[in-house]
Amino acid sequence: DNSATDSKDLRAKLVLLGDSGVGKSCIVLRFVRGQFDPTSKVTVGASFLSQTLALEDSTIVKFEIWDTAGQERYAALAPLYYRGAAAAVVVYDITSPESFKKAQYWVKELQKHGNPDIIMVLVGNKADLHENRHVSSQDAQEYAEKNNMVFIETSAKTADNINQVFEVNIFPLI
Ligand code: GTP
Ligand code: MG
Repeated sequence: DNSATDSKDLRAKLVLLGDSGVGKSCIVLRFVRGQFDPTSKVTVGASFLSQTLALEDSTIVKFEIWDTAGQERYAALAPLYYRGAAAAVVVYDITSPESFKKAQYWVKELQKHGNPDIIMVLVGNKADLHENRHVSSQDAQEYAEKNNMVFIETSAKTADNINQVFEVNIFPLI
């Protein structure tokens, strides 16, 4: 029995976008390896990781994840990664209003130039730093609703809601 050729098996091509330092690479590392790196280095260009997940009905989902670089100098590369993506995970840091503005920039860019059927997820990361919160959940939720996005707050550090970020992208495929 070769499950890789089972017609029910799914591929989910995802891209992560967002300002440098919001925790994109840590979110992916948490999902793929179950680890957290407090000394995570800035991403150069982009990095690719994959992860497979077995659903309850034994369908296999293969996530193909492009983790882009948030530094401004790499902004022109982003279309290379989001153009082929079925879903975009747009990340900000709940302690940084600037990063929330940058997330809105990426949402507009995706609306203008992305695949018209792209699924977009808004992720407020670093929820463990709630004492230093500067973006309210309510503002982010309202923004997400207006833009037809799922909204999730996560912590790559504690693993809170990390699997959900990836799993919400499956349902439209089933
Ligand atoms: P670029 O690659 O430059 O775009 O940045 P990035 O978005 O990939 O950020 P990265 O994942 O490298 O994380 C940046 C810093 O934030 C690192 O010091 C991480 O340890 C820290 N960090 C990431 N996620 C969390 C989190 O959920 N909570 C806390 N407290 N720190 C986090
Ligand atoms: Mg990174």
